[in-house]
Amino acid sequence: MSAVTEDSGKSAAGFASRRVFILAAIGSAVGLGNIWRFPYVAYEGGGGAFIVPYLVAIFVAGLPFLYLDYAMGHRYRGSAPLSFRRMSRGAEGIGWWQVLVCLVIGVYYAAIIAWALRYTIFSFGKSWGSKPDEFFGGDFLHAAAEPGPTLDFVPGLLIPLVIVWVLVLGILALGVQDGIGRTALILMPLLFVAFTALVVFALFLDGAPKGLDALFTPDWSALKQTDVWVAAFGQIFFSLSVGFGVMITYASYVARKTDMTGAGTVVAFSNSGFELLAGIGVFSALGFMAQASGVAVDKVVESGIGLAFIAFPAIINEAPAGALIGVLFFGSLVVAGLTSLVSVIEVVIAGFQDKFNLSRRTATTMVGVPMAIISVLLFSTTGALTVLDTVDSWINSFGILAVAVVSMIVVAHVAKKLPVLADSLNRVSSIRLGTVWRTVIGFITPIALIYLLYKEFSARLDAPYGDYPQSLLIPFGWAVVIVIPIAAFALAALPWRNQDMTNDVEDLETDVETEEEVR
Ligand code: ALA
Repeated sequence: MSAVTEDSGKSAAGFASRRVFILAAIGSAVGLGNIWRFPYVAYEGGGGAFIVPYLVAIFVAGLPFLYLDYAMGHRYRGSAPLSFRRMSRGAEGIGWWQVLVCLVIGVYYAAIIAWALRYTIFSFGKSWGSKPDEFFGGDFLHAAAEPGPTLDFVPGLLIPLVIVWVLVLGILALGVQDGIGRTALILMPLLFVAFTALVVFALFLDGAPKGLDALFTPDWSALKQTDVWVAAFGQIFFSLSVGFGVMITYASYVARKTDMTGAGTVVAFSNSGFELLAGIGVFSALGFMAQASGVAVDKVVESGIGLAFIAFPAIINEAPAGALIGVLFFGSLVVAGLTSLVSVIEVVIAGFQDKFNLSRRTATTMVGVPMAIISVLLFSTTGALTVLDTVDSWINSFGILAVAVVSMIVVAHVAKKLPVLADSLNRVSSIRLGTVWRTVIGFITPIALIYLLYKEFSARLDAPYGDYPQSLLIPFGWAVVIVIPIAAFALAALPWRNQDMTNDVEDLETDVETEEEVR
């Protein structure tokens, strides 16, 4: 075995095969973003016409950036901070920036899964009653009258959240193959079967064609709106899990001689396939709802939390075999969410494990327990909803995109590593990265993202998000995205306890020929 795979206990214990890696990567990509965000974003973004910005976003940003993430992890064999450090000493902070973005995502993403877990159980008896909107804000969340955090705990939120954290940290403590890999092997086929069954049920509901019409009828004028393009790029980044360390970390667990670009293409198209499936399922159900209430589809369309916890329970109340639809829908949210949450927290664990030379169990405990505590303090109280909504919006609009731009600029123009990274993947991969890839990563994507960030920034200054007070938006929106890079560079300044990180990548270069063939 090469020095590269021996140099950290973490890297040595990688995925057993390319198939497991691909399933784990799809597990990370397919998450809440696919099921509850995509259908709405597509509908709002011109329906059938949304295919144009969506495909452009995949080819201009999603796939090229996925290849970049894979190249980083595959060549430098480390967590995000270690990979950036090995690429260039001064770049370690970018890896920590990604780690901290993941830390924030993980803390609130767990709460949504916990809610979906509870709603899976509610589905059996339709416990939300005849007014799901009142139930969600009232009996379920006990939402405080004023937006913002409280210390008023709600046991019905706390218990499922603790269960989610125990489950996820248990999986991660088992390690890369036995924990992450096995979970993906079991849960991904289950998700596929459950979700396909849901979509088939939904397609047979009265009014389903009405919903599909609303989703797919193209509104070509939408393509003139910059917001639609912003939404397409934002959707692709979050949905593919690119740019925030997940794919770097997962790629570091793959044997050297793995066709990475081929794997990336499978992951990207599986993710998009799942989004399309979700669009069809969700809009068939919304079409049913519109028909049942005698209104147009646009009157029942909702996104995110509103779609899952208000619109779907209303659909379940009316639909034949509603309880089954509920179990399939909320169960799918839980399963899709869990495999994504595992990947996001793995980024944090791997980062600390590498830097402080910790065993997996110690790193999981030292990182996971404080994250779980923050998650419980913020999201099992009566203030959960507004805080979650704010953090989610800022981290998606600014946190992920900002670190993505900075990392591309640093890799391409400061460290000038694009040719080396392309070469590294080209030696083992089927789809070759050349001038087009370097131009896209070096120029087109960063320019597109900077424009996007600027548009979002101006929009936020013009109107306060969600009509929330500044006392909520400043600490849980702006401060979070500003503090993250500062804290990241502070973490990068701490001394390494892992001696191997000092290795220059040239020493780490492994003879690909001598590496064991991947199964
Ligand atoms: N990629 C994950 C999602 O779509 C994070 O939810």
